[in-house]
Amino acid sequence: MATIIGGIGTTHVPSIGKAIAEKRNNEPYWKPFFRGFDYVHYWLAREKPDTVVVFYNDHGLNFFLDKLPTFAVGAASEYRNEDEGWGIPVSRSIAGDPALSWHLINALVADEFDITICQEMLIDHAVTIPMALMWPGQKWQGIKIVPVSINTVQHPLPSLKRCFNLGRSIGRALASYPENRRVLVVGTGGLSHQLDGKRAGFINREFDRFCMDKLAREPDLLTRYSVHDFIEEAGAQGIEFLNWMAMRGALNVHVAEVHRNYHVPISNTAAATVVLENRPDPQIRAA
Ligand code: DHB
Ligand code: FE
Repeated sequence: MATIIGGIGTTHVPSIGKAIAEKRNNEPYWKPFFRGFDYVHYWLAREKPDTVVVFYNDHGLNFFLDKLPTFAVGAASEYRNEDEGWGIPVSRSIAGDPALSWHLINALVADEFDITICQEMLIDHAVTIPMALMWPGQKWQGIKIVPVSINTVQHPLPSLKRCFNLGRSIGRALASYPENRRVLVVGTGGLSHQLDGKRAGFINREFDRFCMDKLAREPDLLTRYSVHDFIEEAGAQGIEFLNWMAMRGALNVHVAEVHRNYHVPISNTAAATVVLENRPDPQIRAA
C-alpha cells in the first residue's frame, strides 16, 4: 500500500533557478527565502519519500492556449524540461512512475474525472523549481514523480472545490495501491501575485495568511470561494493556489502544519513554503 507522508506547498518562480545557478542563496534578498527550506530538507531526509505527486500548472511549455486540458496526468517513464526562455539552465530529467500513474488514471476516470493522459510530457519551471528547492543540487536520484497539471491559465478554470476533490480522488487511489510507496504530494505556485494588467505587482499578505491557516484545518471553507472571488483577493496568478487545494485534498482530514515560511517579495510573488504532515483519521473517509 502506498503511504502518503504529507504534503508540501511551495512557490515555483523561475528566478529562483537563476539564483541557484549563480549561487546567490546567501545574499540578503534570497537568504530569508532559501532558509525556509532548511526544515524541508530535514523533514524529507527523515520521511524518505520515494514518489512525488506534483500538482502544478503548465505555463506554455507542454500545453499552450490552443490546447489546454483542465486536468492532465503524466504516465511517462521520464520527464524532460526544456528552455522556457527565462534564462535559467535546463533542468536534469526526472524519472516517472508509470505503473502508479496508470493506477491513478484508472481511479480518476472511475471517479468521473475526464482527464488528459500524457505518455509524453515536458515539465516546466512549476515542477523543476520546487524539485530543485526540495532536493538541492538536483539530487533526486531514486525519486519518481507523477505530474498532474491543472489549468490555472485559460479561463474557465476548474473551481477550488473541483481541485480539492481531484486531490481526494488521488488520495483514495494511493491508499488502494498494492505496491509499497512512500508518497509526498506537492502543490506549486502562488501565493498572491499578478504579473500583468492594472494590478501587476499585487500582493495580499492578509489573504495569504488566511489561506495557509485554513488549508491545514478548514480546507472546506476555501472550497466555497469562486475562482473570480479568489482572484479578486489573490491576484490573477494567485489562483495557482488551485494546485495547493489539490495537494490538500490528497491528504487526510487531519494534518499538522509542521513548517511555514512566508516571504515577500520573491520576484513578483508572495513566496510561501508549507509542510503538512498526515495524521491518522479517526475513521475511513466516505468516497
Ligand atoms: C513569476 C511568477 C510565476 O508564478 C511564474 O510562473 C513565473 C514568474 C514571477 O513572479 O516572476
Ligand atoms: Fe506560475
